[in-house]
Amino acid sequence: MKKVCIIGASGKLGQYMVQHCLDRGYEVVGVCREQSVPKLARFEGRIKVVPGATNDPAVIEKAVDACDGVLVVLVPWGVQQYSSGTASAVLEHARPDARLVFSCGWHITRDGKDKYSWSFNAYLKFVTWFARLFRVAQIDDQVEACRRIFASDARWTVVRGSGLEEGESQGLPVWSRHVADHILASDLTRRVDFALFMVEALTDDTLIHEAPAIVGCQSPSVLAHAAEREPTAQT
Ligand SMILES: NC(=O)c1ccc[n+]([C@@H]2O[C@H](COP(=O)([O-])OP(=O)(O)OC[C@H]3O[C@@H](n4cnc5c(N)ncnc54)[C@H](OP(=O)(O)O)[C@@H]3O)[C@@H](O)[C@H]2O)c1
Repeated sequence: MKKVCIIGASGKLGQYMVQHCLDRGYEVVGVCREQSVPKLARFEGRIKVVPGATNDPAVIEKAVDACDGVLVVLVPWGVQQYSSGTASAVLEHARPDARLVFSCGWHITRDGKDKYSWSFNAYLKFVTWFARLFRVAQIDDQVEACRRIFASDARWTVVRGSGLEEGESQGLPVWSRHVADHILASDLTRRVDFALFMVEALTDDTLIHEAPAIVGCQSPSVLAHAAEREPTAQT
């Protein structure tokens, strides 16, 4: 991995990904909205910034040129198919052999085998309705974006984030295929570690065509799972 494009670089997740990529010595190209370029000031001189809407194919074509990895923060803001437009532009313009890693939340399901609590479903329904009513966001469009990614032959990974918190890194999150899996029950990951998982996925071919649901490696459900698997001490 030499050159990585980060689409949505100015956001919280994006800035952590920029830092992880620079720590690995990757050449970084960041895409963000024109008005958000100042948010990347601390990286000035160390990354190239391509300003523009992430669902603009011309912006994406320019940004992903010669990149062997593309990290995409999929967000459903506005009512202009921002997520699906971004996903389509990346799928169309990234090199066919590039590693593509997209972010989203647990609400995305790849095979329909995820099981959600009643409260999660109710919350999602409310947020989807509320966001559509006030034309703030199209949650359904993030679903459509992932449908297009899952249907593509590109070398993709869709990383499904749990609830997020700020704080020092705890290490690489643990993942599982389905949201109902007990190991994920804590539903909490440090944002810096979500970014770490995205960046590590670039070079982890076992994650190609996977949609890992992640959780913090120090979260109670992960620790409980590890304790259950530990052999009982012999006396
Ligand atoms: N927040 C959570 O609890 C949570 C939980 C699970 C998964 N996730 C996933 O994590 C990823 C990052 O989400 P985040 O909540 O942590 O936010 P974030 O990293 O701060 O990213 C927000 C992104 O949305 C862009 N944005 C904000 N308002 C916009 C607008 N009106 N039009 C276009 N773009 C706009 C931001 O760009 P600017 O810098 O230009 O504003 C930024 O790139 C997403 O894929 C999300 O689905 C989040």
